[in-house]
Amino acid sequence: MQRFEGKLVYITGGSSGIGLEMGKIFAARGADLLLMARGVEKLQDARKAVQACRLHGSQRIETLSVDVADPRDVQTKMSGALEDLGAPDILISSAGINKYADRFENISYEMFDEVMKINLYGPRTMIQTLLPAMEQKKGHIVVLSSAAAFFGMFGYTAYGTSKAALLGLCDSLRYELKPKGMTLTVVCPGEVDTPMNIDEARTLPREGRAGKNFSSLMTPEDAAREIVAAIERKQYLFIPGGSTRLLYLLHRLTGGWLTRSTSDAVIRLARRRMRN
Ligand SMILES: NC(=O)c1ccc[n+]([C@@H]2O[C@H](COP(=O)([O-])OP(=O)(O)OC[C@H]3O[C@@H](n4cnc5c(N)ncnc54)[C@H](OP(=O)(O)O)[C@@H]3O)[C@@H](O)[C@H]2O)c1
Repeated sequence: MQRFEGKLVYITGGSSGIGLEMGKIFAARGADLLLMARGVEKLQDARKAVQACRLHGSQRIETLSVDVADPRDVQTKMSGALEDLGAPDILISSAGINKYADRFENISYEMFDEVMKINLYGPRTMIQTLLPAMEQKKGHIVVLSSAAAFFGMFGYTAYGTSKAALLGLCDSLRYELKPKGMTLTVVCPGEVDTPMNIDEARTLPREGRAGKNFSSLMTPEDAAREIVAAIERKQYLFIPGGSTRLLYLLHRLTGGWLTRSTSDAVIRLARRRMRN
């Protein structure tokens, strides 16, 4: 098991869910950390939780309120962070939302735009801002996409689009980072039990929920543990959870037929139940 003493890890979305659990693991392995998100109170709670996991009392656990969807905010805050803490050895881009999981006709241009700005432009801006400093350290960038980048889902036209585009960005960026001696890991989890799913449940149509009932639910602790192991292996594409990996394999082997036909059947059944 790798120790991360003397390493600096920046985490966007570090105040909750997968990002927070990854922060705890890196702290327990000796790293210094910068946890980023918008909400200050949640960041303060996260800092306490991560500090409690430290290997040494001397490790720095810092927080920064930043909106990844606002390029000016990212640029200003990151230039301050680089001055104060230095360039990260590892950047984890975990900030994301799934607020508008709904039928396509209910998702306004503004809602769609908000999802893209946070889930796609957010990681893009963060990576582009930190890249020159990270290049000197031959740093490692970790991006949280989603299994929704591979599989369509009822109610996921905004979220799925953002995560598929993010995977596309990573697939090309990997070729540009490798000659610089840098590593890129893109993570595509299935469902993980975090506050994001509470947000999603507010609008997700029943047909979407019915499909999700067939998938397994990981704890954020397990997801984070598997992701950190993939980071240690310097793996490019990583799918946490054995059952999601199997589904991905079957999806690829059948050219998507298996997931499409199963989802069609589940949606038909859910609609029949809604009528009765
Ligand atoms: N949970 C799942 O089932 C699942 C599955 C596949 C992929 N993922 C991906 O994994 C990542 C982490 O998800 P999670 O489940 O851990 O979510 P979560 O518990 O809801 O945490 C999301 C984090 O992102 C931050 N955030 C949201 N918008 C932001 C913005 N504009 N600027 C800066 N920070 C922002 C949130 O804090 P503030 O709101 O205070 O800013 C929070 O810290 C996401 O990218 C998600 O798409 C999750």
